[in-house]
Amino acid sequence: MRVLGSFLLLAAVPVTLAVKSHDFKTCSQAGFCRRGRALSARAAQHESWRSPYTVDADSLTISTDQASFIAGVKSSLYPNIKFGLEVRVHEDGVVRVKMDEVDGLRKRYDEAASWALIADPKISNNIKWKVGKKDARAVYGAKKDVEVVVSFEPLKVTTFRNGKEQVVLNGRGLLHLEHFRTKEPAVAEIPESEVPEEGLDVEDAQKVLKAAKPTAWFEGEEEDAYWEETFSSWTDSKPKGPESLSLDITFPNHGHVYGIPQHASSLDLRTTTGESPYYTEPYRLYNADTFEYLADSTMSLYGSIPVMHAHSTDSTVAIFNAVGSETWIDIAHPSASSTETHWISESGILDVFIMPGPTPKDIFAQYSGLTGTQALPADWALGYHQCRWNYVSSDDVRSVQQKFDEADMPVDVFWLDIEYAEEHKYFIWDKKTFPDPVEMTNDVAAASRKMVVIIDPHFKRTSSYPVYQEAVDRGLLVRQKDGTSEYEGWCWSGSSAWVDFFNPAAWDWWKTLFKTYSLGDDKFSWTQSTDDVYIWNDMNEPSIFNGPEISMPRDNVHHGGWEHRDLHNINGMLFSNLTSQAITVRSDPPKRPFVLTRSFYAGSQRFGAMWTGDNLGTWEHMAVGIKMVLANSIGGFAFTGSDVGGFFGNPDPEMLVRWYHVGAFSPFFRAHAHIDTKRREPYLLAEPHKTMVKNILRRRYSMLPIWYTAFREASTTGLPVARPHYVAFPKDEAGFSLDDQYFIGSSGLLVKPVTEKGATKASVYLPPNEIFYDYDSYSLYRTAAQGKSVEVAAELSQLPLFIQGGSILSTRERPRRSASVMRRDPFTLQVALDKSSSARGELYLDDGVTFNHEQGQIVWREFRSEKSGKGIKLSSRDLTTQNLNSAVDSVALTTYDAANAYAQSLASVRVERVVVLGLGAKPTKITTSTGKELQWEYVPGISSSEKKEGTASLLVIKDPAVSIASDWEIVVQA
Ligand SMILES: *[C@@H]1O[C@H](CO)[C@@H](O)[C@H](O)[C@H]1NC(C)=O
Repeated sequence: MRVLGSFLLLAAVPVTLAVKSHDFKTCSQAGFCRRGRALSARAAQHESWRSPYTVDADSLTISTDQASFIAGVKSSLYPNIKFGLEVRVHEDGVVRVKMDEVDGLRKRYDEAASWALIADPKISNNIKWKVGKKDARAVYGAKKDVEVVVSFEPLKVTTFRNGKEQVVLNGRGLLHLEHFRTKEPAVAEIPESEVPEEGLDVEDAQKVLKAAKPTAWFEGEEEDAYWEETFSSWTDSKPKGPESLSLDITFPNHGHVYGIPQHASSLDLRTTTGESPYYTEPYRLYNADTFEYLADSTMSLYGSIPVMHAHSTDSTVAIFNAVGSETWIDIAHPSASSTETHWISESGILDVFIMPGPTPKDIFAQYSGLTGTQALPADWALGYHQCRWNYVSSDDVRSVQQKFDEADMPVDVFWLDIEYAEEHKYFIWDKKTFPDPVEMTNDVAAASRKMVVIIDPHFKRTSSYPVYQEAVDRGLLVRQKDGTSEYEGWCWSGSSAWVDFFNPAAWDWWKTLFKTYSLGDDKFSWTQSTDDVYIWNDMNEPSIFNGPEISMPRDNVHHGGWEHRDLHNINGMLFSNLTSQAITVRSDPPKRPFVLTRSFYAGSQRFGAMWTGDNLGTWEHMAVGIKMVLANSIGGFAFTGSDVGGFFGNPDPEMLVRWYHVGAFSPFFRAHAHIDTKRREPYLLAEPHKTMVKNILRRRYSMLPIWYTAFREASTTGLPVARPHYVAFPKDEAGFSLDDQYFIGSSGLLVKPVTEKGATKASVYLPPNEIFYDYDSYSLYRTAAQGKSVEVAAELSQLPLFIQGGSILSTRERPRRSASVMRRDPFTLQVALDKSSSARGELYLDDGVTFNHEQGQIVWREFRSEKSGKGIKLSSRDLTTQNLNSAVDSVALTTYDAANAYAQSLASVRVERVVVLGLGAKPTKITTSTGKELQWEYVPGISSSEKKEGTASLLVIKDPAVSIASDWEIVVQA
């Protein structure tokens, strides 16, 4: 294999191929986390622990519109320090609790929410606060069943539903907003006169004096890492001193918590403290390049979404803790039906959003009302992506494309990692290996495919690199702690600098770089690129090889004078935001962007896709990748997947086949491989594995309409595409910890990828009172009042995949080379009858690339099957004309014209086959509403209404020739 010169050069850089736990902090190595956990330990020891924070009732004001509750807060420990509390109830019942220091020595970072939120939330005008002696309370909600109570002494915020506690802030008294202070001169020696007791030496006397500090019971005796701290060889100067934020959030009636991605861990979050913790470290949120991460750990990974769901059979609630700094979260379960959490952040104001639910669906609507929904991707982006570090030349790309075509394997996108760029100067093609980038892209585009190339945020510091030089000239680079000198760090491009995307001056400039036409003499634009080139944003945590924890020094300075520590977790989101805007506006009319990001924050779902970073080619990593996809989905990020095959290592054919199954059933489906691995494009496999992977790829493509419809739902309701069991069946307690099987959107497809070596069978859990059909064998399974696990065949060529009775799936079964050429292909409808012989399903279509769907250029159908005598009546009706109530405030769904131009253009796109599973009787005659008699075949079997299991009856209606875009009826007489 070819080793590139520039890579050799970088071999001197400390890049290692096994996670070095010692590169990353544990809680005890982070001063503020140590302080937070010590606070919690002191609280646990003191029977009569009481929060020092109280609401100053005299200062309380309720605005005339009742919108906000504002009050001063005092700490009994620091009577002269002032805090302000604000509580607002939004229109959709979300409660926002904000607290900040007032007139402090400095200002706490208060902008996290402004980057995450899509708009200022609308305040409810339908509530009334009742202020009493001990508390203030407001009842709200359509049924007036929700209440928020702010208790004064000590300060505590509780939400209730039907009188039952839902979320409690500061119920355990761990709230602490460390106020800004000045550094006391070191106590060198204590004057003789102040030694408290005779006979004590000075050292002991100091201890006694410290212990007598009135704040010691709460803050501890020591000023632990207040003013400076060192980790490994890095010293953090901490010019602002201590400013951490500790907050306990309790869910007294919810035994399961989910979310706070991203960690390589179970979906159902585990105990980190208490009697017998599963983990001993809190879950950490600090975006970091944790390459070759552990497969079961609370360690931080590349992205952070501080969102947590709390769930019970009774209800779901959630919180979004809008903080941009490093955050650690301890979790304990005092009982099976309650959860305690403790959030410890390095800096920032308290800004917590409490989402009332009460169903998971409501939570997703409430959360996307705050931070937006998943952007609807281009249709081709749901196809298969082929990536490698690296396709080494333009001819290499051409030959990979040719081999996919020769093998008859569909693929939509070829990716280029960092080696396309001369000396890793992104945008600048290496002329030796990519002499003809535009022609290469055009060759790929000629086969209806796209390219994605990497643009990383580290810019080589050389004046001959126009991107760097323009950023210097405009003063856009991140600065060192002195606030003026350019920060220099080491990354792929050697000595590098980073653009400060928090600086608004960077925004328009960044967009100019992606223009594919010339902008004039000395301005850089990407003329060596076309509209078929899309973008991968990697290393945006940011990853810095010689920085603390492989990232940026926390005392670096950003626009507005904020320190890097304040906004670290938000940094990566701005990069993908601006890149996706740049890609959108480079063409006129704009096209949907595609940007893959490694680093992310709450709101990143608006800008494209993410993947789970540099995983390993092991069975453990394959398995945990599924859990991570589900956890990211809970954080609102629906367009997510993990690298098929694993980034590091050489998976054997068995592992690769299983991994393709995992990928084909992930929202984002990409294979990727490290530069040191053997080539593993699927056409290189020998038989029988090659055919197995070909079939998996084809199955993905046949199901693209299902995925696209699920993405449309995600983009309008916030509901995830990969849907965990507790979201789909919130009352089915037996499924609350399931994270190795999940549903695809609302389609009724249930999948359980196999992630065990040598497996020939798999056990799948089916929820109560349902029928499920095996997708391939048509075996019918039936559950009663209890769910049950069934064992199914799972040879290497098989994937446990089920259709829930009552669903209608739309697929396209003609094998094709890419998604873009399938847009006019005919459909197959698969009707899986439920116990009462009915079923329904939806199909959403649009042109797949423009924003015309926002103007109503769509096809949105509902298919139904209803019992009709012994037979059934199948029908198709339009949904675009329905009176739509969007679940999400921010998503305007209007009534569209069913006869829009796009729908008309699909008039000749037909249904070529209808498959019905579980019909009770052999048909006698099948006709369309126009009276046309149809051909069919019937294979007897178990009916959906019988109380039996076995192979379901199968009816295949041949070529009904009805249009996918218009209303029709097919009557099956029996
Ligand atoms: C990010 O994206 C939103 C659109 O979702 C936009 O309104 C905002 O201005 C963007 N820019 C930055 C710098 O966050």
